[in-house]
Parts: sequence; C-alpha cells; structure tokens
Amino acid sequence: MKKINTIIGIETSCDDTGISIYNEKDGILSEYIYNQTLHEKYGGTVPELASRDHIKNILKIILITIKKKKAKIKNITAISYTKGPGLKGPLIIGTITAKTLSYNLKIPSIGVNHLDAHIMISLIFNKTIKFPCIAILVSGGHTMILKLEKYNKIILLEETSDDSIGETFDKIARALNLTPSNGKSIENEINNKIIYDIIKFIKTNKPTKKINISFSGIKTNIIKYIRTHKERKDIICHNFQREVIKIIIKRIKNILKNYNIKNIILAGGVAANKELRLVLKEFSLKFKYIFHKIPINYCTDNGLMIAFLGFIKIKEGVKDNQLNIETYENLTINQ
Ligand code: KG4
Ligand code: ZN
Repeated sequence: MKKINTIIGIETSCDDTGISIYNEKDGILSEYIYNQTLHEKYGGTVPELASRDHIKNILKIILITIKKKKAKIKNITAISYTKGPGLKGPLIIGTITAKTLSYNLKIPSIGVNHLDAHIMISLIFNKTIKFPCIAILVSGGHTMILKLEKYNKIILLEETSDDSIGETFDKIARALNLTPSNGKSIENEINNKIIYDIIKFIKTNKPTKKINISFSGIKTNIIKYIRTHKERKDIICHNFQREVIKIIIKRIKNILKNYNIKNIILAGGVAANKELRLVLKEFSLKFKYIFHKIPINYCTDNGLMIAFLGFIKIKEGVKDNQLNIETYENLTINQ
C-alpha cells in the first residue's frame, strides 16, 4: 500500500513558534502559532529572549498541535524544520527539537529553507500557478524578486542590499511609537480611513545596477519628517505605505517588461498588507497578469510552510540529515 505522508513542520527562525501537521491527502490537519509578545517593550526582537521563550514553549505547542483534531502522533511520517535563514539561537532550538523527536519516533527529519518555504506555500492555495512565474518575496529580513523556472528552481532577479521592506515598516512603526512596532500596526493606523492628505517625501537612493530595490532613502526621509512634523500618525502611515508600494510596483513593472511571464506570486510577511495586495491585484488586472495570493494568516511565519516544503522535499527523495545539528543563519534562496 502506498504510504500517505503526514509531516509535522517546526518553524522557529525568529520570534514565532509555528507548528503545523500537513497530510498529503487531507491537507492541514492541525496547526498552532505562538507569537512572542515579550519583545514589544524593547521595540524589536531580542534574540536571547526569543531563544529562551522558544525553549520554554516549543514542546507544549507541539503537544497542543498533536492533540488537536485528527492529528495523531503515530500517523506522523516525517518532521521538517527551518534550517535557516534566521536567528541562530531560535534555529538551534527548532533543529534540536526536530532531531530529538525524529530519533525517538524513528522517523526522518528534514531541514528546509525558510525563504523557499514562504514561496512554496502558495502552491497549496493556488492550484493553477503556471511556471515560469515571478515571485515577490517581501518579509522582515528579505525583499526579493525571483523567477520560478519550475517549483524547485528559483532564480534571484533583484533584491535589496539595504533595509528590507518589512524592516522599513518596523522602523517607521517604532519612530511613530506604535506597539507592536510592525507593519500590521501601520496598517491598523490607516484602517478603513479615507486619507487625502499627501506628504511629499524627498526620495533618495535611485536604483542602480548594484542596489536594485532600496527603501533606505525613503526610510531616512520619513524618520526625519516624523521628528520635525506633528501631523497625525495615520496620515504619515498612509503616505509611507503608498510610497513603498510604489517602489515595489515600479520594480515589478520593470522586470516583467523583460520576460514573457503571466503568473505572479506575492509571499512573505508583508504580503499580508491589504493595500499591497489590492494594488498588485489592480496592476495584474490592468496588464493581464494572473496574481496568486496566499491567505493573510499564511503570509507571516507559520509551521505549514515548513511542513509543506518538507513534504515536497520528501517527494523529491531528499533523505534525513541524521543527527546533524547545523543551522544556516545567512542562507539565501534555493540553498
Ligand atoms: O515573513 P515574516 O513573518 O518574517 C520574516 O521571515 O522576516 O515577515 C515579518 C514582517 C515584519 O517586518 C512585519 O512588520 C511585516 O512582515 N508585516 C507586515 C504586515 N504584517 C506583517 N507589513 C505590512 N503590513 C502588514 N499587514
Ligand atoms: Zn519569514
């Protein structure tokens, strides 16, 4: 009888502990995401505290996930975990947990790339994606425009060499004293308001061959603006969000000119931004592209993306990497 794969995914690259159980026939069996809130008072993730909180909670979260619904421990056929990129301490904790479970349950464990996983999760929700396609990966650590030749061949076309888009959202949120200091708080400031006030921020850092996408110019200008102006926070957030989305759309437009590609994927934490989703949808409608979204809850870090990429790797024949406790903090795409 053909074995049905059931994979438990463990995501601990930063400050979220995401666990999910994915079955190749029935899809998501169970999942749980624990967001560490202890960093809020520091205005950003403190790596040492993140590690300690992962240690404190990871087994509890795995147990909660396994006990939910039909996810039985005896049915799990493999474990997949984030091998990188991310914070060293949190990555080590996820890796050791995966290896310990793997050893005791006598099932394979497979380390997967967090960046690839952000993109690949779109295959669960968009069955009609056609390759080659363009993927826009916008997260806390990365901003990349990629070409997917096929599902397991990803080519980097452009990336930021300074701040990532998510980092830019976080820094502006911090400058405005929003809690938590992240993009979701910026979005919440604007939420459902019609704002007409336009602030003209001076932009610097025009794209060069070396720096393809850059947010550092707009970031510096807005932070300076916040120090010297007393406008309402919602007006500043609205104008900032509009400017960064403009930067992304401009780069995408430029890249798409060079390829005969119709399918576009938007992935990573910032892909949860409703305005970015809307603007890309309108752009795609106007220029006849097919835009594939990921449900908002699965754009930010989660266990499902790790479980699903683990499943793909098993199908490809990737083998257990034994008790090798290695983490890769600076991994890039496709490694
Ligand atoms: O992918 P992710 O969860 O973690 C990394 O792999 O980095 O992305 C986190 C980033 C943070 O910078 C956060 O501020 C941003 O995603 N983010 C958002 C929204 N939700 C999360 N940015 C803008 N709008 C949102 N709704
Ligand atoms: Zn991520």
